[in-house]
Amino acid sequence: MQTKLLNFTDEHLQLAGELIRQGKLVAFPTETVYGLGANAFDEQAVLSTFTAKGRPSDNPLIVHIYDKSQVWQIAREVSADAQKIIDQIMPASITIVLPKRANVSDAITAGLDTVAIRMPKSAEARRFLEACQVPVTAPSANTSSRPSPTTWQRVAEDMDGKISAILCGEPCQVGIESTVLDLTHDEPLILRPGVVTPEQIESVLGKPVRVLTNPKEKVNSPGVKYKHYAPKVPMALDLSGDTAKLSGYYDTLVKQGLNPVLLVEDVSAFGGRNVHPIGTTDEQVAQNLFENLRILEQSYNYIIASYTSKTSFATSILNRLTRSASNNII
Ligand code: TXA
Ligand code: MG
Repeated sequence: MQTKLLNFTDEHLQLAGELIRQGKLVAFPTETVYGLGANAFDEQAVLSTFTAKGRPSDNPLIVHIYDKSQVWQIAREVSADAQKIIDQIMPASITIVLPKRANVSDAITAGLDTVAIRMPKSAEARRFLEACQVPVTAPSANTSSRPSPTTWQRVAEDMDGKISAILCGEPCQVGIESTVLDLTHDEPLILRPGVVTPEQIESVLGKPVRVLTNPKEKVNSPGVKYKHYAPKVPMALDLSGDTAKLSGYYDTLVKQGLNPVLLVEDVSAFGGRNVHPIGTTDEQVAQNLFENLRILEQSYNYIIASYTSKTSFATSILNRLTRSASNNII
Protein backbone atom coordinates (compact mmCIF):
# COMPACT_ATOMS: atom_id res chain seq x y z
CA MET A 1 0.00 0.00 0.00
CA GLN A 2 1.22 3.47 -0.80
CA THR A 3 0.86 5.84 2.13
CA LYS A 4 -0.20 9.33 1.01
CA LEU A 5 1.36 12.32 2.74
CA LEU A 6 -1.36 14.94 3.19
CA ASN A 7 -1.24 18.46 4.60
CA PHE A 8 -3.74 20.87 6.07
CA THR A 9 -5.21 22.30 2.87
CA ASP A 10 -9.01 22.13 2.60
CA GLU A 11 -8.66 19.67 -0.26
CA HIS A 12 -6.41 17.28 1.67
CA LEU A 13 -8.56 17.54 4.81
CA GLN A 14 -11.61 16.55 2.77
CA LEU A 15 -9.68 13.63 1.32
CA ALA A 16 -8.55 12.54 4.81
CA GLY A 17 -12.19 12.62 5.96
CA GLU A 18 -13.32 10.62 2.96
CA LEU A 19 -10.64 7.99 3.54
CA ILE A 20 -11.82 7.60 7.15
CA ARG A 21 -15.45 7.24 6.03
CA GLN A 22 -14.33 4.60 3.48
CA GLY A 23 -12.85 2.53 6.32
CA LYS A 24 -9.20 3.45 5.74
CA LEU A 25 -6.56 4.37 8.34
CA VAL A 26 -5.27 7.96 8.51
CA ALA A 27 -2.65 9.15 11.03
CA PHE A 28 -3.12 12.70 12.35
CA PRO A 29 -1.50 15.11 14.81
CA THR A 30 -2.89 15.90 18.25
CA GLU A 31 -1.29 18.07 20.94
CA THR A 32 -0.15 14.94 22.84
CA VAL A 33 1.14 12.46 20.24
CA TYR A 34 0.14 11.48 16.69
CA GLY A 35 -2.89 9.19 16.52
CA LEU A 36 -3.81 6.41 14.09
CA GLY A 37 -7.39 7.21 13.12
CA ALA A 38 -10.22 4.89 12.02
CA ASN A 39 -14.01 5.31 11.76
CA ALA A 40 -15.28 4.24 15.20
CA PHE A 41 -18.53 3.00 13.61
CA ASP A 42 -16.74 0.71 11.12
CA GLU A 43 -15.65 -2.46 12.91
CA GLN A 44 -13.37 -3.68 10.10
CA ALA A 45 -11.58 -0.33 10.06
CA VAL A 46 -11.14 -0.45 13.83
CA LEU A 47 -9.80 -4.00 13.67
CA SER A 48 -7.26 -3.01 10.99
CA THR A 49 -5.74 -0.53 13.47
CA PHE A 50 -4.61 -3.45 15.63
CA THR A 51 -3.01 -5.14 12.60
CA ALA A 52 -1.15 -1.99 11.48
CA LYS A 53 0.28 -1.46 14.98
CA GLY A 54 0.80 -5.09 15.93
CA ARG A 55 -1.30 -4.26 18.99
CA PRO A 56 -2.81 -6.93 21.26
CA SER A 57 -6.58 -6.98 20.76
CA ASP A 58 -7.30 -6.84 24.50
CA ASN A 59 -5.97 -3.26 24.72
CA PRO A 60 -8.92 -0.92 24.08
CA LEU A 61 -8.88 2.24 21.95
CA ILE A 62 -9.81 5.86 22.70
CA VAL A 63 -12.67 7.39 20.67
CA HIS A 64 -11.89 10.96 19.54
CA ILE A 65 -14.51 13.68 19.03
CA TYR A 66 -14.47 17.35 17.99
CA ASP A 67 -17.83 18.39 19.41
CA LYS A 68 -19.06 17.81 22.95
CA SER A 69 -22.48 16.62 21.75
CA GLN A 70 -20.78 13.56 20.22
CA VAL A 71 -20.24 12.18 23.74
CA TRP A 72 -23.85 10.97 23.63
CA GLN A 73 -23.22 8.94 20.46
CA ILE A 74 -20.75 6.85 22.45
CA ALA A 75 -21.58 6.97 26.16
CA ARG A 76 -24.84 5.67 27.62
CA GLU A 77 -24.49 7.62 30.89
CA VAL A 78 -22.77 10.88 31.69
CA SER A 79 -22.39 11.27 35.45
CA ALA A 80 -22.32 14.65 37.19
CA ASP A 81 -18.53 14.28 37.52
CA ALA A 82 -18.19 13.53 33.82
CA GLN A 83 -20.34 16.53 32.91
CA LYS A 84 -18.05 18.79 34.97
CA ILE A 85 -14.95 17.52 33.16
CA ILE A 86 -16.68 17.93 29.79
CA ASP A 87 -17.85 21.47 30.61
CA GLN A 88 -14.79 22.78 32.42
CA ILE A 89 -11.72 20.92 31.12
CA MET A 90 -12.44 19.60 27.63
CA PRO A 91 -11.08 20.11 25.01
CA ALA A 92 -7.81 19.11 26.66
CA SER A 93 -5.23 16.34 26.96
CA ILE A 94 -7.60 14.22 29.01
CA THR A 95 -9.55 11.03 28.22
CA ILE A 96 -12.59 10.03 30.25
CA VAL A 97 -13.84 6.47 30.66
CA LEU A 98 -17.65 6.19 30.75
CA PRO A 99 -20.25 3.40 30.39
CA LYS A 100 -20.52 2.60 26.67
CA ARG A 101 -23.56 2.58 24.45
CA ALA A 102 -24.50 -0.74 22.87
CA ASN A 103 -23.55 0.48 19.37
CA VAL A 104 -19.87 0.84 20.40
CA SER A 105 -18.09 -2.25 19.07
CA ASP A 106 -16.27 -4.71 21.33
CA ALA A 107 -13.32 -4.26 18.96
CA ILE A 108 -12.91 -0.75 20.40
CA THR A 109 -13.44 -1.57 24.06
CA ALA A 110 -11.84 -5.04 24.13
CA GLY A 111 -15.17 -6.36 25.39
CA LEU A 112 -15.36 -3.92 28.33
CA ASP A 113 -18.66 -2.27 29.19
CA THR A 114 -16.91 1.12 29.18
CA VAL A 115 -15.50 3.41 26.51
CA ALA A 116 -12.69 5.99 26.57
CA ILE A 117 -13.51 9.40 25.03
CA ARG A 118 -11.19 12.28 24.23
CA MET A 119 -11.66 15.72 22.68
CA PRO A 120 -8.19 16.95 21.71
CA LYS A 121 -7.14 20.51 22.30
CA SER A 122 -5.07 20.87 19.12
CA ALA A 123 -6.77 22.85 16.36
CA GLU A 124 -5.24 20.56 13.72
CA ALA A 125 -6.71 17.47 15.40
CA ARG A 126 -10.15 19.09 15.66
CA ARG A 127 -10.10 20.19 12.00
CA PHE A 128 -9.33 16.61 10.98
CA LEU A 129 -12.02 15.16 13.25
CA GLU A 130 -14.56 17.62 11.92
CA ALA A 131 -13.70 16.63 8.34
CA CYS A 132 -14.30 12.97 9.31
CA GLN A 133 -17.83 13.72 10.62
CA VAL A 134 -17.76 10.46 12.59
CA PRO A 135 -16.12 9.63 15.94
CA VAL A 136 -12.59 8.36 15.31
CA THR A 137 -10.70 5.68 17.24
CA ALA A 138 -7.02 6.49 17.59
CA PRO A 139 -4.22 4.79 19.45
CA SER A 140 -0.81 6.43 19.29
CA ALA A 141 0.46 5.99 15.71
CA ASN A 142 3.51 3.87 16.57
CA THR A 143 4.26 0.18 16.20
CA SER A 144 3.10 -1.44 19.45
CA SER A 145 5.64 -1.18 22.33
CA ARG A 146 7.70 1.57 20.59
CA PRO A 147 7.93 5.21 21.78
CA SER A 148 4.89 7.21 20.61
CA PRO A 149 5.47 9.45 17.54
CA THR A 150 5.45 13.22 18.08
CA THR A 151 6.27 14.21 14.47
CA TRP A 152 4.77 12.98 11.19
CA GLN A 153 8.22 11.74 10.13
CA ARG A 154 8.22 9.29 13.09
CA VAL A 155 4.74 8.11 12.10
CA ALA A 156 6.10 7.41 8.62
CA GLU A 157 9.02 5.46 10.14
CA ASP A 158 6.58 2.99 11.73
CA MET A 159 3.54 3.14 9.44
CA ASP A 160 4.75 3.78 5.88
CA GLY A 161 3.16 1.20 3.56
CA LYS A 162 0.72 0.04 6.26
CA ILE A 163 -1.87 2.85 6.29
CA SER A 164 -3.65 4.97 3.67
CA ALA A 165 -2.43 8.42 4.67
CA ILE A 166 -0.55 10.57 7.14
CA LEU A 167 -1.87 14.06 7.77
CA CYS A 168 1.38 15.98 8.23
CA GLY A 169 0.99 18.66 10.89
CA GLU A 170 3.11 20.37 13.50
CA PRO A 171 5.28 18.49 16.00
CA CYS A 172 3.22 17.70 19.12
CA GLN A 173 3.35 20.33 21.86
CA VAL A 174 2.73 18.13 24.91
CA GLY A 175 4.68 15.06 23.81
CA ILE A 176 3.16 12.44 26.14
CA GLU A 177 -0.29 10.87 25.94
CA SER A 178 -3.45 12.16 27.59
CA THR A 179 -4.41 11.62 31.22
CA VAL A 180 -6.87 8.69 31.33
CA LEU A 181 -9.54 9.25 33.99
CA ASP A 182 -11.98 6.47 34.88
CA LEU A 183 -15.31 7.99 35.90
CA THR A 184 -17.35 4.79 36.06
CA HIS A 185 -17.19 4.61 39.88
CA ASP A 186 -17.96 7.13 42.62
CA GLU A 187 -14.25 7.57 43.24
CA PRO A 188 -12.53 9.01 40.14
CA LEU A 189 -9.41 7.03 39.26
CA ILE A 190 -6.48 8.13 37.08
CA LEU A 191 -5.45 5.07 35.07
CA ARG A 192 -2.70 6.85 33.13
CA PRO A 193 -1.11 10.12 34.34
CA GLY A 194 -0.66 12.97 31.87
CA VAL A 195 -0.36 16.72 31.58
CA VAL A 196 -3.79 17.25 33.19
CA THR A 197 -2.85 16.66 36.85
CA PRO A 198 -4.86 15.11 39.73
CA GLU A 199 -4.92 18.55 41.40
CA GLN A 200 -6.60 20.14 38.37
CA ILE A 201 -9.20 17.37 38.25
CA GLU A 202 -9.80 17.58 42.02
CA SER A 203 -10.37 21.31 41.83
CA VAL A 204 -13.02 20.82 39.13
CA LEU A 205 -14.74 17.84 40.79
CA GLY A 206 -14.41 19.13 44.35
CA LYS A 207 -13.42 15.69 45.62
CA PRO A 208 -10.31 13.51 45.91
CA VAL A 209 -9.05 11.66 42.87
CA ARG A 210 -7.11 8.44 43.22
CA VAL A 211 -4.08 7.73 41.04
CA LEU A 212 -3.41 4.15 40.07
CA THR A 213 0.04 3.42 41.45
CA ASN A 214 0.30 -0.34 41.79
CA PRO A 215 0.32 -1.79 38.27
CA LYS A 216 -0.53 -5.20 39.76
CA GLU A 217 -3.81 -3.82 41.07
CA LYS A 218 -6.65 -5.43 39.16
CA VAL A 219 -7.89 -2.63 36.95
CA ASN A 220 -10.01 -2.18 33.90
CA SER A 221 -7.27 -0.56 31.82
CA PRO A 222 -5.61 -3.46 30.04
CA GLY A 223 -3.13 -1.16 28.29
CA VAL A 224 -1.09 -0.56 31.43
CA LYS A 225 0.19 -4.14 31.54
CA TYR A 226 2.09 -4.22 28.24
CA LYS A 227 5.67 -3.29 27.41
CA HIS A 228 5.57 0.32 26.29
CA TYR A 229 7.54 3.28 24.96
CA ALA A 230 10.69 1.18 24.61
CA PRO A 231 13.69 2.28 22.53
CA LYS A 232 15.47 -0.43 20.52
CA VAL A 233 18.44 -0.39 22.92
CA PRO A 234 18.53 -1.09 26.68
CA MET A 235 17.90 1.82 28.97
CA ALA A 236 18.56 2.67 32.64
CA LEU A 237 16.85 5.37 34.69
CA ASP A 238 18.39 7.39 37.52
CA LEU A 239 16.26 9.54 39.81
CA SER A 240 19.05 11.10 41.90
CA GLY A 241 20.91 13.31 39.44
CA ASP A 242 24.15 12.22 41.15
CA THR A 243 26.85 13.08 38.59
CA ALA A 244 29.52 10.79 40.05
CA LYS A 245 27.16 7.82 40.14
CA LEU A 246 26.01 8.44 36.56
CA SER A 247 29.59 8.78 35.31
CA GLY A 248 30.55 5.56 37.12
CA TYR A 249 27.63 3.68 35.57
CA TYR A 250 28.56 5.02 32.13
CA ASP A 251 32.24 4.04 32.54
CA THR A 252 31.32 0.50 33.57
CA LEU A 253 29.28 0.10 30.39
CA VAL A 254 32.19 1.42 28.31
CA LYS A 255 34.49 -1.17 29.93
CA GLN A 256 31.98 -3.82 28.84
CA GLY A 257 32.50 -2.64 25.25
CA LEU A 258 29.25 -0.63 24.98
CA ASN A 259 28.73 2.82 23.49
CA PRO A 260 26.32 4.50 25.98
CA VAL A 261 24.83 7.98 26.11
CA LEU A 262 23.69 10.07 29.08
CA LEU A 263 20.26 11.72 28.64
CA VAL A 264 20.59 14.42 31.30
CA GLU A 265 19.65 17.95 32.28
CA ASP A 266 23.17 19.38 32.64
CA VAL A 267 25.18 18.14 29.66
CA SER A 268 28.28 20.06 30.76
CA ALA A 269 28.83 17.93 33.88
CA PHE A 270 30.13 14.72 32.26
CA GLY A 271 33.60 15.42 30.78
CA GLY A 272 34.09 13.90 27.34
CA ARG A 273 31.31 11.33 27.72
CA ASN A 274 28.41 11.06 25.20
CA VAL A 275 25.60 13.31 26.39
CA HIS A 276 22.21 14.51 25.12
CA PRO A 277 19.95 17.14 26.78
CA ILE A 278 16.75 15.79 28.33
CA GLY A 279 15.41 19.36 28.82
CA THR A 280 15.36 21.79 31.72
CA THR A 281 11.61 22.12 32.40
CA ASP A 282 8.98 19.39 32.76
CA GLU A 283 7.27 20.75 29.64
CA GLN A 284 10.47 20.48 27.59
CA VAL A 285 11.28 17.01 28.90
CA ALA A 286 7.79 15.74 28.01
CA GLN A 287 7.73 17.39 24.60
CA ASN A 288 11.03 15.84 23.48
CA LEU A 289 11.06 12.58 25.44
CA PHE A 290 9.93 10.07 22.81
CA GLU A 291 11.78 11.90 20.02
CA ASN A 292 14.98 11.81 22.10
CA LEU A 293 14.67 8.04 22.57
CA ARG A 294 14.16 7.56 18.83
CA ILE A 295 17.18 9.76 18.04
CA LEU A 296 19.53 8.15 20.57
CA GLU A 297 18.73 4.52 19.69
CA GLN A 298 20.21 5.21 16.24
CA SER A 299 23.71 6.16 17.43
CA TYR A 300 24.18 4.46 20.81
CA ASN A 301 23.57 1.01 22.24
CA TYR A 302 22.65 1.98 25.82
CA ILE A 303 20.69 4.99 27.13
CA ILE A 304 21.19 6.24 30.70
CA ALA A 305 18.45 8.76 31.50
CA SER A 306 18.44 10.94 34.60
CA TYR A 307 15.39 12.86 35.77
CA THR A 308 14.92 14.47 39.17
CA SER A 309 11.85 16.70 38.97
CA LYS A 310 9.27 15.98 41.71
CA THR A 311 6.33 18.09 40.48
CA SER A 312 2.87 16.72 39.85
CA PHE A 313 3.41 16.83 36.07
CA ALA A 314 6.73 15.02 36.58
CA THR A 315 4.80 11.95 37.79
CA SER A 316 3.44 11.43 34.28
CA ILE A 317 6.88 11.84 32.69
CA LEU A 318 8.36 9.39 35.21
CA ASN A 319 5.61 6.91 34.35
CA ARG A 320 6.78 6.94 30.69
CA LEU A 321 10.50 6.92 31.54
CA THR A 322 10.13 4.00 33.94
CA ARG A 323 8.34 1.95 31.33
CA SER A 324 10.75 2.96 28.54
CA ALA A 325 13.52 1.65 30.79
CA SER A 326 11.54 -1.56 31.49
CA ASN A 327 11.74 -0.67 35.21
CA ASN A 328 15.55 -0.68 35.19
CA ILE A 329 15.99 1.99 37.85
CA ILE A 330 19.59 2.41 39.02
O1 TXA B 1 -3.06 11.28 23.99
C1 TXA B 1 -3.63 10.21 23.71
O2 TXA B 1 -4.47 9.69 24.47
C2 TXA B 1 -3.29 9.56 22.37
C3 TXA B 1 -3.74 10.48 21.23
C4 TXA B 1 -3.58 9.86 19.88
O3 TXA B 1 -5.06 10.89 21.47
N1 TXA B 1 -3.86 8.26 22.27
C5 TXA B 1 -3.36 7.19 22.99
O4 TXA B 1 -3.97 5.98 22.71
O5 TXA B 1 -2.47 7.29 23.80
P1 TXA B 1 -3.36 4.56 23.16
O6 TXA B 1 -4.21 3.55 22.47
O7 TXA B 1 -1.91 4.53 22.87
O8 TXA B 1 -3.68 4.48 24.69
C6 TXA B 1 -5.01 4.31 25.14
C7 TXA B 1 -5.04 4.02 26.61
C8 TXA B 1 -4.57 2.62 26.92
O9 TXA B 1 -3.81 2.62 28.12
C9 TXA B 1 -5.90 1.87 27.08
O10 TXA B 1 -5.79 0.72 27.90
C10 TXA B 1 -6.76 2.95 27.74
O11 TXA B 1 -6.40 4.14 27.08
N2 TXA B 1 -8.19 2.69 27.52
C11 TXA B 1 -8.87 2.72 26.37
N3 TXA B 1 -10.17 2.37 26.56
C12 TXA B 1 -10.31 2.12 27.87
C13 TXA B 1 -11.41 1.70 28.69
N4 TXA B 1 -12.61 1.48 28.19
N5 TXA B 1 -11.18 1.55 30.01
C14 TXA B 1 -9.95 1.78 30.52
N6 TXA B 1 -8.87 2.15 29.81
C15 TXA B 1 -9.05 2.32 28.50
MG1 MG C 1 0.11 4.07 22.81
